[in-house]
Amino acid sequence: MNVILIGAQGSGKGTQADLLAGALGLLHISSGDLFRQAMTEKTELGLKVKTYMDRGELVPDDLTVTMILSRLAMPDCSAGVILDGFPRTIPQEQALDEGLQEVGKQIDVVFYLDVPREELLARLSGRYICKANQHVYNVNTRPPKTPGVCDLDGSPLYQRPDDTGEAVQRRLDIFFSETIRLLDHYREQGKLITVNGNQSIEQVHASLLEAIRGR
Ligand code: AP5
Ligand code: MG
Repeated sequence: MNVILIGAQGSGKGTQADLLAGALGLLHISSGDLFRQAMTEKTELGLKVKTYMDRGELVPDDLTVTMILSRLAMPDCSAGVILDGFPRTIPQEQALDEGLQEVGKQIDVVFYLDVPREELLARLSGRYICKANQHVYNVNTRPPKTPGVCDLDGSPLYQRPDDTGEAVQRRLDIFFSETIRLLDHYREQGKLITVNGNQSIEQVHASLLEAIRGR
């Protein structure tokens, strides 16, 4: 099974993708995590994407599509994936459809995590992620056991540069003007399920599982 999670910045894509991956035995693939990893490792891709990421702008489609399609071609994706943060534009969505078709696969279900903008801003301002594996915390709603330290791997927690200042508003504007248009495409294909993302993390997880099992 291949699943896409669509949602604005702070809607809980990363949080829910991790939980769903564990529950369903799928692999969590996050375009943002892959870009941040490339920046940490200072690869050629990492150096190219840094300016876009720091400003809260989208990375160009060609770089993004090449990175994701080559990741999806790896053997560990064969049992199915949860895509978090990809696709975000119509060209990305078309490239994904074509890329999957070529290898006899398809997207089975697309979830939209629906959360009001005020709640998104509150969540992003409290978010911290870990240096080693990008595990997600929130000082208000999901604090680590020891402040500043990841519960899972002991690495230090930090605030993403694009979670502060103008970049936050820019990211939300891009989502609500551009990425949201993908919903129409998946609705037409009968694959879209909208879930209320403005519930507790556990409640959202339960809603996603119920929707998958009820299909
Ligand atoms: P990316 O890393 O994907 O960031 P994003 O889309 O901005 O999404 P976020 O990671 O901010 O939010 P999330 O939905 O994962 O929320 P989370 O679970 O962390 O992309 C970053 C950048 O990379 C982009 O700006 C762009 O430059 C580039 N990029 C990536 N993909 C691209 C693409 N396809 N094309 C072009 N460029 C691309 O939760 C947020 C917080 O809320 C956490 O603190 C969490 O603990 C808390 N929380 C979660 N759920 C709940 C809940 N139910 N109740 C209370 N708190 C909650
Ligand atoms: Mg995320």
